[in-house]
Amino acid sequence: MASLWGGRFEKEMDDLVKEFNASIRFDARLFREDIDGSIAHVTMLASCGIVTEEEKQQIIEGLNAIRQEIEDGKIVFSTEDEDIHMAVEKRLTEKIGDVGKKLHTARSRNDQCQTDLRLFVKRAILSMIGELKNLEEVILQKAQENVNEMTIGFTHIQHAQPITIGFLFMAYFQMFKRDIERLYDTLERMDYSPLGSCAMAGTSFPIDRAMTADLLGFIAPTENAMDSVSDRDYCIELLSDAAISMMHISRWAEELAWWNSSEFSFIDIDDSYCTGSSIMPQKKNPDMAELLRGKCGRVYGDLMQMLTVMKGMPLSYNKDFQEDKESLFDAVDTWNMCVRVLTGMIEKTTFRTEKIAEHLSRGFLNATDAADHLAVAGIPFREAHAIIGRLVKVCEEKNCGLEDLGEEALQPVDPRLTKELLGDISLEGCVRARKSFGGTAPEEVLRQIEAGKEWLLTVEV
Ligand code: ARG
Repeated sequence: MASLWGGRFEKEMDDLVKEFNASIRFDARLFREDIDGSIAHVTMLASCGIVTEEEKQQIIEGLNAIRQEIEDGKIVFSTEDEDIHMAVEKRLTEKIGDVGKKLHTARSRNDQCQTDLRLFVKRAILSMIGELKNLEEVILQKAQENVNEMTIGFTHIQHAQPITIGFLFMAYFQMFKRDIERLYDTLERMDYSPLGSCAMAGTSFPIDRAMTADLLGFIAPTENAMDSVSDRDYCIELLSDAAISMMHISRWAEELAWWNSSEFSFIDIDDSYCTGSSIMPQKKNPDMAELLRGKCGRVYGDLMQMLTVMKGMPLSYNKDFQEDKESLFDAVDTWNMCVRVLTGMIEKTTFRTEKIAEHLSRGFLNATDAADHLAVAGIPFREAHAIIGRLVKVCEEKNCGLEDLGEEALQPVDPRLTKELLGDISLEGCVRARKSFGGTAPEEVLRQIEAGKEWLLTVEV
């Protein structure tokens, strides 16, 4: 059958080329957006006197019926349809006759596919904000439950300072908070309607682009038709948002796998989030954490694909743009699933505080605090740092902690040193004392949790 654009052609398209050219396999999922866009378009055409009220009614009824048919799985798409825009238009004319052919007045697939994709991106942004919000709620809950529980803070993967588990959770809270804010930024910049840009240069029909923008829930129409059909910045921004957020997920997944190792055993990941081995009966593997880490690479790939397609793209529409969809869909689907899996896994993961306690006694986590106490007593910090460094050496020889050294061991290192001067260097004391803004002290973490809760209330979906 000849294509909707086939007027000037003498030959049918080659079969392989048909398949190569078609995007229906992946853009069929935009059918709702396509029909919403067409309904807004024809409503505007009628209001501007370009089609009659009666024609508008017939077209809208036809489009709504097609939406239902697709939802009910009654339409089987084929490469003959080329893309979702042609498929819907063809079906419309089959259903309501020649009046269906008026729908494409003052519109091109170039602005139509962009309207659909922008609607998709808007919906994806709102859905991702919702998923990340659920994750943030779980993080707040876990932070609250663990506000007094201690763990090890690392730098260079070495024992550094004692922290609370609540504090650690709130660090992740901040990362996902920025992810949500980034999504809002993306939304604000992309929330403009390209519909009515037509092929690339606008139209001589007296259309009302502000009306279609409004009907579709966009802030306003885009300013320049040529840019509108060629702009994929918003896809790249969403892909970047996804890539950054996946990086956060992957970093956490790495820590979870690591804390779950036999060497650490800091956490217990719920059975329902682990798998076994086909050969080693004893195994309980943190596969979901590993997959979360692995999927990050895939989303980076999606971003790189889109950036590469856009490099060197001349104005205005080029068929290369059809490659804007698969990676975007893949990134959104992958990211969405990863956030949901991470949320469930975090909710069900418990901390093995007895195991953590064994590790807490190693690595001189209280050394900074001991030096701080000497500095408070008047010894310049640089000197205090050196004194505690020498004490650490003594402890290593004696195989004990700083808190275990008696006066007889302190004096030879520096005559000014006394147990009293070293002060409270219990790990609880160290943590309690770090109440500077943003610090790990339970009272400060409670403030962070309260601030987090308040902010989360402003996140509306
Ligand atoms: N399927 C196409 C796409 O996704 C629609 C636009 C086609 N426009 C054109 N002039 N061939 O980009």
